[in-house]
Amino acid sequence: MVAATLEKIRFEKASATIGARVAGVALDQAATPEVMQVLREGLHEHGVLFFEFGQIVEAAEFARFSELFGEVEPVYGFSTKDEAVSAVKPGESCIDARLQPLKQYRTNMWHSDGTPFERPPQAAILTPVEPPQLGGGTMWSSMYAAYEGLSSHYQRLLEGLEVVHGTMRTPFVKETAQMIHPAVIRDPVTGRQALFVNSIYSERFLELSERESDSLMHFLFEHVNTPEFHVAITWKPGTVAVWEERVTQHRAVDSFVGQRRLRRLTIKGDKPAA
Ligand SMILES: [Fe+2]
Repeated sequence: MVAATLEKIRFEKASATIGARVAGVALDQAATPEVMQVLREGLHEHGVLFFEFGQIVEAAEFARFSELFGEVEPVYGFSTKDEAVSAVKPGESCIDARLQPLKQYRTNMWHSDGTPFERPPQAAILTPVEPPQLGGGTMWSSMYAAYEGLSSHYQRLLEGLEVVHGTMRTPFVKETAQMIHPAVIRDPVTGRQALFVNSIYSERFLELSERESDSLMHFLFEHVNTPEFHVAITWKPGTVAVWEERVTQHRAVDSFVGQRRLRRLTIKGDKPAA
């Protein structure tokens, strides 16, 4: 029975470098250790997984499905100064473009979630409550590909560096946070190295002068934006995207018609390690 279930789970690449569409996993799939292991390996290998369930996924179904990927965080790290946004309960239309305009909330900039925390989320899961009529998709960039796309000289330089992550560029969050992480991390499942520098939270390299740091940061933010590292989707009723936060970055596309409301949950993580 277990073997039959596992045989049905298939990953079909969505691009050469990042993303896979998953078949053979039901919305009410039982979270057995074997299924969770197959999904975990697929998630870390492909960076982002896409599921299509054909109709809007309700809050309870979404919460249950999310448990396939680990321990769901009760609340995502940051609360915002805007009371109306903070009042939204986790899992219930958490990201509403009317309450959190994408540009103002910087969700249209490449980032990993919560990197100013010691333990940023390991994964995040999104599904639409109200998908846009047109546009408003989400993009992901492979940080394996970003690291591997650098020359060995830049790889060696970055391997020795640490990065200060903070809330300098997110004036809308209520609390400030700051944490130092390695510039290059190693994924514990695949063993592959990944660039861990993002344009919302990465502020400076600890070991470099301000000028060196600014220049290298600017280069890396551009580098993450290389189309060959990317995969993009638009949201349909029943689309669920699950991404591994450490080996990918994501951004929303702030060009859409209609409303844009998405449910989000995050999975607990450890401190990223080199
Ligand atoms: Fe995000």
